[in-house]
Amino acid sequence: MKIYRAHSYQEMSRKAANIISAQIIMNPKCVLGLATGSSPIGIYEQLVDWYNKDDLDFARVKTVNLDEYRGLDKDNPQSYNYFMHHHLFSKVNIKEKNIHIPDGMNEDAEDECKKYEELIDSLGGIDLQLLGLGPNGHIGFNEPSNCFTRKTHVVDLAEATIEANKRFFEDASMVPRQAYTMGIGTIMRAKKILMVVEGEKKAEILKRALTEEVTPEVPASILQLHPDFTLVADDAALSKLDW
Ligand code: F6R
Repeated sequence: MKIYRAHSYQEMSRKAANIISAQIIMNPKCVLGLATGSSPIGIYEQLVDWYNKDDLDFARVKTVNLDEYRGLDKDNPQSYNYFMHHHLFSKVNIKEKNIHIPDGMNEDAEDECKKYEELIDSLGGIDLQLLGLGPNGHIGFNEPSNCFTRKTHVVDLAEATIEANKRFFEDASMVPRQAYTMGIGTIMRAKKILMVVEGEKKAEILKRALTEEVTPEVPASILQLHPDFTLVADDAALSKLDW
């Protein structure tokens, strides 16, 4: 595990964007696993900036997103599909056919999950997976539970997640109760994992995830076992770690 410390959100975003940019430069046809939420917005801004300066080319990059709310259309501003187009895809030269996000409108959950897993396999797996950390230790939408899920599946969102994500909606009642998410297995099979964590409110869960036992009660704790895991976090998030 590598840990990079940043003194601000901007610095964290730049350090993480450096790693993604290096991945694209090393392998212009790479498969990037991407995340939504507040944590990666600065990374996407930085990548767009480098693209505008002609230092990055997304022409052959492929992407797979971690998750999507169930029941939200891709044109719904709260959907993760919309978020990704807004913050990154519409601003760089990625090809639409190379963008993959679970289809929140597919009512046949079994079909959607199977298709998504097969798609990731057909791309040769994920080269670099970007993650944020949920307030309850979730990664993707893999909520605390009694076992690590292997594949893409439908989850019932935990109350803590609904509470944390309601800031993007009019009120908590508007937050969808279910989502499609890559499984822990799907995420752990990525060749590299990059996690960004920011703020004092994540300090305790980050400490539990990285220094205590590996348990599905804290889904991110499994990252301790990944052979190529990098964390980029700010001072506040690292404040409870002896590091
Ligand atoms: C987003 C995702 C989530 C978030 C996590 C942290 O696609 O899968 O696991 O990464 O909830 O969210 P923020 O960054 O908003 O604190």
